[in-house]
Amino acid sequence: MSEALLSIRDVHYTHRLSGGVSVPALRGVSLELQPGEIVGIVGESGCGKSTLARAVMGLLAPQKGEICYNGINVHHPQNMAEKRCLQQQRQMIFQNAALSLDPHFSVEEIICEPLRLAQLAPQQGSYREEAAYWLQQVGLDALFLSRRPQQLSGGQAQRVAIARALAARPRLLVADEPIAALDVSLQAQIVNLLRRLQREQGFGMLFIAHDLAMVRHLCHRVAVIYQGRLVEIAPTAELFRAPRHGYTKALLSAMPLPDPRQEKQRQPQYYEQPVSDGGVWHQASPQHYWLAEDGEVGE
Ligand SMILES: Nc1ncnc2c1ncn2[C@@H]1O[C@H](COP(=O)(O)OP(=O)(O)O)[C@@H](O)[C@H]1O
Ligand SMILES: [Mg+2]
Repeated sequence: MSEALLSIRDVHYTHRLSGGVSVPALRGVSLELQPGEIVGIVGESGCGKSTLARAVMGLLAPQKGEICYNGINVHHPQNMAEKRCLQQQRQMIFQNAALSLDPHFSVEEIICEPLRLAQLAPQQGSYREEAAYWLQQVGLDALFLSRRPQQLSGGQAQRVAIARALAARPRLLVADEPIAALDVSLQAQIVNLLRRLQREQGFGMLFIAHDLAMVRHLCHRVAVIYQGRLVEIAPTAELFRAPRHGYTKALLSAMPLPDPRQEKQRQPQYYEQPVSDGGVWHQASPQHYWLAEDGEVGE
């Protein structure tokens, strides 16, 4: 087995608020991403997806557990070379991308900044042409090059953030609900762009999304998070065909079906049981694992 591109081992993170209040967000999450693999992360709002994304990018330090990118501990790089490697090879598209764009820079500067920092030569001749190329890839005109973030709509800012992340030629892309703020017509366009570039460039991706149809279309495997715990992980087709965990079943039952007859008979399920810190992992097939509560039968 090749070395994992990303290895997340038993990560626990609790948000600590003033007044001694603490909010547990991740409770022992373990996950590996192979080079060139797209893993979808799904689960209800507040289950810990963004916390996990930020921990992978080194923006939050887990209280327990370890995250390694290509064998480098993302919270404790050993030297400048490792630091540079982390900075250059990982890119993130934030859930609220508009806030991640520096208002003092133009769109052109924003897209090219990671390239300049990494001292990467533009592939399109000049930095300006490079920025225009990536704008075109996300469906924006070159007229936007000189605009500032505050002159962009939410959807336009989101696309600039996507262009910036892709222009940097990442080896690992962490995309936190990258298309949620876009019109439906643009969502498919961006997902197809991500899929094409991933095939051409072979980067690995954590794709966090609400839209299960997009996850199904894009991801090789899907990880389901519930109340800060990973409860199931499987190859995409298998997860959709034969989910095992009760929460996964409920999540999938909420998905509209394309066949009108089946859609009419669809019965949404609900799952509200708390997930404990215990449980036992069961293996349903070589790459399909799910977490059963103690005493629950796992055939
Ligand atoms: N900055 C923060 N301060 C305090 N609590 C937070 C913060 N960010 C997230 N949380 C809490 O941590 C939990 C997980 O949040 P988050 O990772 O944003 O979930 P998701 O992205 O799946 O919606 C939630 O209970 C949320 O309220
Ligand atoms: Mg989130």
